[in-house]
Amino acid sequence: MVLAVTMSSFGEPDVLQISEVETPRPGPGEVLVRVRATALNRADLLQRRGLYPPPPGASEILGLEMAGEVAELGEGVTSVSVGDRVCALLPGGGYAQYACVPAGMLMRLPTNLTFAQGAAIPETFLTAYLNLFVLGRLSPRETVLVHAGASGVGTSAIQLIRLAGANSIVTAGTEAKIERCLSLGAQAGWNYHDGSFVDFVQKHTDGHGANIIFDFIGAPYFADNIASLAIDGRLIVIGTMGGTKVDALDLGQLLGRRLQIIGTALRSRSLADKIELTAAFQAFAGDALANGEVVPVVDSVFDWRDVQEAHRYMESNRNTGKIVLNVN
Ligand SMILES: NC(=O)c1ccc[n+]([C@@H]2O[C@H](COP(=O)([O-])OP(=O)(O)OC[C@H]3O[C@@H](n4cnc5c(N)ncnc54)[C@H](OP(=O)(O)O)[C@@H]3O)[C@@H](O)[C@H]2O)c1
Repeated sequence: MVLAVTMSSFGEPDVLQISEVETPRPGPGEVLVRVRATALNRADLLQRRGLYPPPPGASEILGLEMAGEVAELGEGVTSVSVGDRVCALLPGGGYAQYACVPAGMLMRLPTNLTFAQGAAIPETFLTAYLNLFVLGRLSPRETVLVHAGASGVGTSAIQLIRLAGANSIVTAGTEAKIERCLSLGAQAGWNYHDGSFVDFVQKHTDGHGANIIFDFIGAPYFADNIASLAIDGRLIVIGTMGGTKVDALDLGQLLGRRLQIIGTALRSRSLADKIELTAAFQAFAGDALANGEVVPVVDSVFDWRDVQEAHRYMESNRNTGKIVLNVN
């Protein structure tokens, strides 16, 4: 038996507890990893409330990413060795001492990064990479408007945009968050408490609008997002933290400016897609992570026994970057 964070029922953070579960066993092509750190995602908060069930076949245990050491190899695995430091995206099961991962999903953890930093890589960077380059088709010199710029996904996106030679402008809820986004490479920031971002976007794109908008907010931003897109602009709907239902959409605007609205979800993609994405991300940003040009932004590290407190902290929207749990 091993320890994991389990839930007595769905609900508030106090349903989370540490208890014993069966030791996972690696199947053919899989690797058993001794998890040293995992990181929180908004999806964990929804799953804890019973609003986001894991996909069929995935662990019921929370946790979409982890970093740790290879503990055991399943049949046929030759790409890694026992003891290697790795990190990976998971369909679930990261809040545990051990997790099984298909070998193709593993990323080697560069020696300059701690396990806490490694746990902060997979979900945000793979989400940012997928939506910027695969779905968004970002070109150098284009401008991306990143909402919630200081979020985990936002801080990763800003750095990948910089690495690609493109520009990012952000919105966030505090001046301190905007400063952090600028320090990571954003060109300008807008505090949304000061009102609509439409004029801000026009000002920083010479009146052309943004080529890509990374939106996590949804309904309340929809009209201003459409108004802020350049010709051939792509609105990528990554989250709906502010609501899902929009009142009206003038389809004439889509035609007139050849706009695209793209919905995206990483977790439900096929394993083959995720393996391909992991390889493409490493080819693009692996060296930059190893030499410090790109950094996983860790807001705070909690002992996993304080997982309830960590969930409450994420719900308070105070983090800049990732909230990590050290798993001991
Ligand atoms: N589709 C996918 O595949 C995928 C994958 C990963 C994540 N996501 C989604 O991406 C979003 C960001 O995730 P994350 O882990 O990076 O988040 P995070 O680090 O927890 O940051 C979220 C930030 O969003 C801002 N925010 C929250 N509610 C808001 C609202 N109603 N209006 C405006 N701003 C709000 C807050 O910052 P301020 O102080 O600036 O308001 C908050 O700190 C989430 O919705 C998550 O579910 C989607």
